[in-house]
Amino acid sequence: MYILAPSILAADFKRLGEEIRTAALAGAQYIHIDVMDGMFVPSISFGAPVIQSVRSCTDRVFDVHMMVEEPGRYVEAMKEAGADLICVHEEACRHLDRTIHQIKECGCLAGVAVNPATPVENLSCILSEADMFLIMSVNPGFGGQKFIPYTLDKIRRLRTMLDLAGLHTDIEVDGGINTGNVSRVLEAGANVIVAGSAVFGKDTEGAVQEFLRKMQEFDCACRPGDPQ
Ligand code: DX5
Ligand code: ZN
Repeated sequence: MYILAPSILAADFKRLGEEIRTAALAGAQYIHIDVMDGMFVPSISFGAPVIQSVRSCTDRVFDVHMMVEEPGRYVEAMKEAGADLICVHEEACRHLDRTIHQIKECGCLAGVAVNPATPVENLSCILSEADMFLIMSVNPGFGGQKFIPYTLDKIRRLRTMLDLAGLHTDIEVDGGINTGNVSRVLEAGANVIVAGSAVFGKDTEGAVQEFLRKMQEFDCACRPGDPQ
């Protein structure tokens, strides 16, 4: 299944609830929420109180991307605020296996993210433990950056690793994705697409629909025998 996860980092914060509602009503399946601590990444974004205040805007999956050192410290708070999926960085967890299980034990789905310079092979031991993997296609910390092309090869390598292990785990890709390059990301083996600046800013509804159309088009082209 192909999923679009608009990143609210690029939304107009003074109309955050409205922006989320528009993206959800246009068909986005996830809402991607970037939590930044000013340590793991240079920026500070927002935390649990903001997530809690927009939780009632939609029942879509809240996909919380923790760009935070030792995110295990905030797992319960994120769950309480309304997170459905909590994604932590491999680079930010001293005890990654423990943090993954902490997320699952509180009833959320567990994602593990890797920065552009982190090899996907670092995920080999926890391949069957996570519910989703997130390949960063920009260095985390800011929206509106340019897609790093070598990350396509990382998506391919991770999809092969999962296939060899008989796993159908979701691969999410985050950073610099627009309707012009999304099909290359899907082709490499990803199925969850984060898009911030390419969704919010002008015509949010139109942008979501255009992404979904491209993703649907790719899906149909992949399965030519299937009824459309
Ligand atoms: C970057 C964030 C992304 C960001 C994506 O650190 O994790 O989710 O908002 O924004 P775009 O799509 O503009 O690159
Ligand atoms: Zn993100």
